[in-house]
Amino acid sequence: MAVALGIGAAIAAGGAFAHDDPMPKNASAATKAAYARHQNFENLGKAFKGLNDELRKGSPDKAVLASNARAINTAATGLPTWFPRGSGVAARPMSEAKNEIWSDAAGFTAKAAAFRTEAAKLNTIAAGGDIDAIKAQVRPTFMACKGCHETYRQEKKG
Ligand code: HEC
Repeated sequence: MAVALGIGAAIAAGGAFAHDDPMPKNASAATKAAYARHQNFENLGKAFKGLNDELRKGSPDKAVLASNARAINTAATGLPTWFPRGSGVAARPMSEAKNEIWSDAAGFTAKAAAFRTEAAKLNTIAAGGDIDAIKAQVRPTFMACKGCHETYRQEKKG
């Protein structure tokens, strides 16, 4: 339980300044991609936090767990397409995407694939509704988030 709580809090801490950063008018395709990605990650963070919050309840709602796991899995499937070249800080100064995403594309792709594997497992397990099994899959999923962030995300405090 404590593990799930810590994870939820760590994830919720991201993006505190998001609302002061509206997309400029006449944005380029790369800038649009950077803002869309920002929104996609916020949604992913919400789904992951939603899953953790639900698991902390006395009797978690299996439908809530399953729908959050589905959202996480959908995000994991789409993630490799969220990073067109040129959509880093040049496209959105507040972006936390590091240049290594593009200069070390193979490494980044591997992290994205590792996340996709864990998210797919989580989705399958959550659809089955076994609470203990879902709890057990939260940590490897979180480690896949963290494993990518450590190398490819530069956190900026607002
Ligand atoms: C393959 C790499 C990768 C994986 C896996 C990954 N992330 Fe991220 N994440 C990033 C990068 C890169 C950024 C910065 C994007 C930007 O600012 O342009 C980011 C940003 C975020 C943000 C900040 C959103 C914002 O813009 O305010 C949140 C929240 C987040 N990720 C949550 C998660 C969660 C939760 C998971 C796992 C369930 C996860 N991420 C998995 C690479 C990843």
